[in-house]
Amino acid sequence: EKGGFDSFMDKEIHDQPHAVADTLLGRTDAAGRIILDDLRIDEAVLRSVDKIIVIACGTAAYAGHVAKYAIEHWCRIPVEVELAHEFRYRDPIVDERTLVVAISQSGETMDTLMAVRHAREQGAKVLAIVNTNGSTIPRESDAVLYTHAGPEIAVASTKAFLAQITAAYILGLYLAQLRGNKFPDEVAQLFDELRDMSRKVQTVIERGEYVRATARSMEAADKVLFLGRHVGYPVAMEGALKLKELAYIHAEGFAAGELKHGPIALIDEGQPVFVVVPSPRGRDQLHSKVVSNIQEIRARGARTLVIAEDGDDEVRKYADEIFWIPQAPSLLQPLLAVVPLQIFAMALAGAKGLDVDQPRNLAKSVTVE
Ligand code: F6R
Repeated sequence: EKGGFDSFMDKEIHDQPHAVADTLLGRTDAAGRIILDDLRIDEAVLRSVDKIIVIACGTAAYAGHVAKYAIEHWCRIPVEVELAHEFRYRDPIVDERTLVVAISQSGETMDTLMAVRHAREQGAKVLAIVNTNGSTIPRESDAVLYTHAGPEIAVASTKAFLAQITAAYILGLYLAQLRGNKFPDEVAQLFDELRDMSRKVQTVIERGEYVRATARSMEAADKVLFLGRHVGYPVAMEGALKLKELAYIHAEGFAAGELKHGPIALIDEGQPVFVVVPSPRGRDQLHSKVVSNIQEIRARGARTLVIAEDGDDEVRKYADEIFWIPQAPSLLQPLLAVVPLQIFAMALAGAKGLDVDQPRNLAKSVTVE
């Protein structure tokens, strides 16, 4: 049932183009408008929402971070992202105009479930983005947007993450359409770009051998850092989490802009640092800011492992290793940029002889608080 792969994780990484495509399936009508049948929240309520709070844990929370950038940009609704266990035990400001989005692969994570219950008690509407049909979180929510990643067996989440991000983009585009933030043809164009991501994810996977070879050469690494900005920041944190979970290596993800506020002190000769580089075609000087961050760490001896878009000639000069990903709209880049990081963590754990499907101390679904 591993479909010829060495591990479920490897299989699930290869399932990712399908996870993205299947999550998008059936979400538009003949006129190209997004339709979410299973939403069950009154459109008037969704139009009046003045704040969104995403609650989740672990990898699902990083999907929530990506969602924040996209939804705020497309819908102009403030979005907060909070770890479910932190949300539950403070005194969150939530009312009838708050939409809480709970993201969970299993639909059974107790921390997330308790936060869902708490939000509903305060009068919020809860929409669940969940992978497992009929699980507890969607049953206890007002609405559900299922990800169609298929069952995820490996403990470390991969295809569910891509499907969660995809579902969050669908939600963002739906809200933008509903609330009139975007013209129908703009929504349709963004949706087409989203559809095209499945093929690009496949391309990244096909380039995986170089990532694997690099990982095998880094078996002795004892700490690895990950940097990103904007949507690359949650990707960096997810890359670090994968490496901790699978290879038991101390890893940390930072916002690249935060470097000089402290973490740059960690850089010494040979320190491996992954950097997620935004598209050079994007706005806001994001690309040049990240290129300067790479120069700063390299000047201090870092070994730079760079994830960059095809055609980015500028960054090439500062990269010790470079993992190319296809060009994509800036907000959608996480679907591609995370894939080499997943493959890296899996291959490094494999090189160390570790069980990539069943890392120590971890369970697939955490049903205690
Ligand atoms: C990471 C991982 C965990 C889960 C987290 C939430 O690889 O698997 O961090 O993402 O425990 O689980 P779900 O999504 O089932 O609520």
